[in-house]
Amino acid sequence: EKGGYEHFMLKEIFEQPKSVHDTMRGRLLVDEGVIKMAGIWDHVEKFKNANRIIIIACGTSWHAGLIGEYLIEEYARIPVEVEYASEFRYRNPIITDKDVVIAISQSGETADTMAALKLAKEKGAFIYGICNVVDSSIARITDAGSYTHAGPEIGVASTKAFTAQLTILTLIAFKLGKHNGNLGNAEFMSLIAELDAIPKKIEEVLNTTHELTQNIAKDFVKATNFLYLGRGYNYPAALEGALKLKEISYIHAEGYPAAEMKHGPIALIDENMPIVIIAPRKGHYDKIVSNVQEIKARKGKIIAVVNKGDRQVSEMADYVIEIPETSECFSPIVASVPLQLLAYYIAVYRGANVDQPRNLAKSVTVE
Ligand code: M6R
Repeated sequence: EKGGYEHFMLKEIFEQPKSVHDTMRGRLLVDEGVIKMAGIWDHVEKFKNANRIIIIACGTSWHAGLIGEYLIEEYARIPVEVEYASEFRYRNPIITDKDVVIAISQSGETADTMAALKLAKEKGAFIYGICNVVDSSIARITDAGSYTHAGPEIGVASTKAFTAQLTILTLIAFKLGKHNGNLGNAEFMSLIAELDAIPKKIEEVLNTTHELTQNIAKDFVKATNFLYLGRGYNYPAALEGALKLKEISYIHAEGYPAAEMKHGPIALIDENMPIVIIAPRKGHYDKIVSNVQEIKARKGKIIAVVNKGDRQVSEMADYVIEIPETSECFSPIVASVPLQLLAYYIAVYRGANVDQPRNLAKSVTVE
């Protein structure tokens, strides 16, 4: 059942070229220049006329939501807020029938997300689900939705569900942007062609970083802390990288927007602090370069995720993980893959039970 892999998590990491492809299949019709999503199309006026979209989720799904905010605001120019489901439901939020609430949940059973949705529904919002498990509670309570077709995710650490969620959110952003005129046809066509090629890029990254991440992992088995930094679309990818590491390896890890470093976390940096920095060429590269210089000056151990052929960041880094170049909006999908592998191997070398980390359950059905 693990298909020859030692753990479900590794199997699921390696399934991502297929799961991302499956999530696009039948929806992304590149030759026709069309994105087909019945759940969106049937209610497109709701989205178009929405005052705002509120995304609610927990954990990894919440990180996907943050990237969804960047995507939808950039391409469809609809205001988006992202909230932890648990905070949303307990803080008396302002919700009206002009709001669209999107819940993201792999399992479709997360208690806090479910309760938040019920609240939004009571207040008259249109509620939309992005779930992986077909016919799950969240899928059933929502007015409409889009399934991620990632296939069953067994490892407690979410991997392929995350990249499938990003795929759906990308499709939604492009579809809404095309419909409401904020995304011009030429840009739409070039973006969807690029999206179509993402599974191949994931495949490439799996091939080129699998051994490399194992070698890097060996040097960090005894680490007690990690920082993950990124900017723009890759800030949530940094949060997700840190969550992966902490939940399966039990190493304390924090993700930060790189520019926030100077507002506190920089005090933590010394020669014992490993810092994973996501620094693709497209997306605030020059700013990241100066962040890396600041880390270097304090002797932090730099593990840099960069584009192929990168010089500036690579020259300063202790470890370099190369990924293919993409438009900024796709980079979290590609950059997340080596970070999943890195977390996986650090955890494996520490002897941790990666598929079933202590204190965690696959779906959190308690509040
Ligand atoms: O099933 P859901 O997507 O609603 O689950 C939300 C979180 O519990 C989940 O993403 C959790 O953070 C994962 N273990 C992260 O890998």
